[in-house]
Amino acid sequence: MFRLLWATALATIAASHCTRSGLKEVVDSYLASQISGQATPFTAQFDTSTWLGYYENAVKVDVNTGILKTPLPITHNRSLYDTTNCMTYTEVIVNDEKAPHVIGTQLKFANHKVNRVDSIVTKPGDWLFNITGYAYWVEQENWGTIPEAKRDSRDTIKKAADAYCDLFNDPSVVVPWGTPCVRLEGGLYGDPGPNGTCVGGVPSGVPMNRRRYVIDETVGAVDVMLDFGTSAWPDTHEFRIEGGKIRYGHTVNRRQNP
Ligand SMILES: *[C@@H]1O[C@H](CO)[C@@H](O)[C@H](O)[C@H]1NC(C)=O
Ligand SMILES: *[C@@H]1O[C@H](CO)[C@@H](O)[C@H](O)[C@H]1NC(C)=O
Ligand SMILES: *[C@@H]1O[C@H](CO)[C@@H](O)[C@H](O)[C@H]1NC(C)=O
Repeated sequence: MFRLLWATALATIAASHCTRSGLKEVVDSYLASQISGQATPFTAQFDTSTWLGYYENAVKVDVNTGILKTPLPITHNRSLYDTTNCMTYTEVIVNDEKAPHVIGTQLKFANHKVNRVDSIVTKPGDWLFNITGYAYWVEQENWGTIPEAKRDSRDTIKKAADAYCDLFNDPSVVVPWGTPCVRLEGGLYGDPGPNGTCVGGVPSGVPMNRRRYVIDETVGAVDVMLDFGTSAWPDTHEFRIEGGKIRYGHTVNRRQNP
């Protein structure tokens, strides 16, 4: 009984720590910093007492030496807000001739503030990178709010993503493919038509390790940041799940072309 009350109290405290609007405010400060090339106002949101680090492409670096110090004219952003785990994921596109970038960033929160930043930063030369393709295709997709009655549970969303990620190292895994399903990888797009499928093109012997999840059931989406394959390429896989099935997948992978 005592333990149950304690668990409930803790859950209440955790839940009260993050609201969508609170998380959104901080993401807005992150975007403002990236646009201006000034680490503040974003760094003003860091929780120094529980600080875990600022990571770029899976390497812990000083925020003042990172990509945030380069002003980038962001042309697209879309975020997931995980109010259960107090985390966010933001997809950032810089469709700019001089400094084309696709960046995926997870923020982890404590005490209403950020205590870990995890960014995958890609540019020309990275795996399948094509800013024209990436910027174009994301605009053709619908990652909008799903009506409450049709929403999948966090568990269903996470399981679909895990099945996909497990398949790369275990061909026996059954993945809940949607029809259609389409993948955006670096800038390369699959068949967007009504019969589009994500079944093909899956390699084998590629473990996806150290998965960090951000789940937003209001839009049926999950981001999984991970180490891709035995060489542990910094990578983010984001999925949109509809009715328990995979509708879209976005892959941003830091592997440099040979
Ligand atoms: C982020 O995207 C939203 C639309 O989804 C837009 O209203 C907002 O201005 C964008 N923010 C920045 C900083 O580009
Ligand atoms: C990049 O993507 C665009 C739009 O899909 C496509 O027209 C173009 O051929 C691609 N470029 C390369 C080098 O693949
Ligand atoms: C999709 O598949 C159906 C059933 O096989 C077929 O009748 C239809 O022509 C296909 N549509 C397209 C656009 O390929």
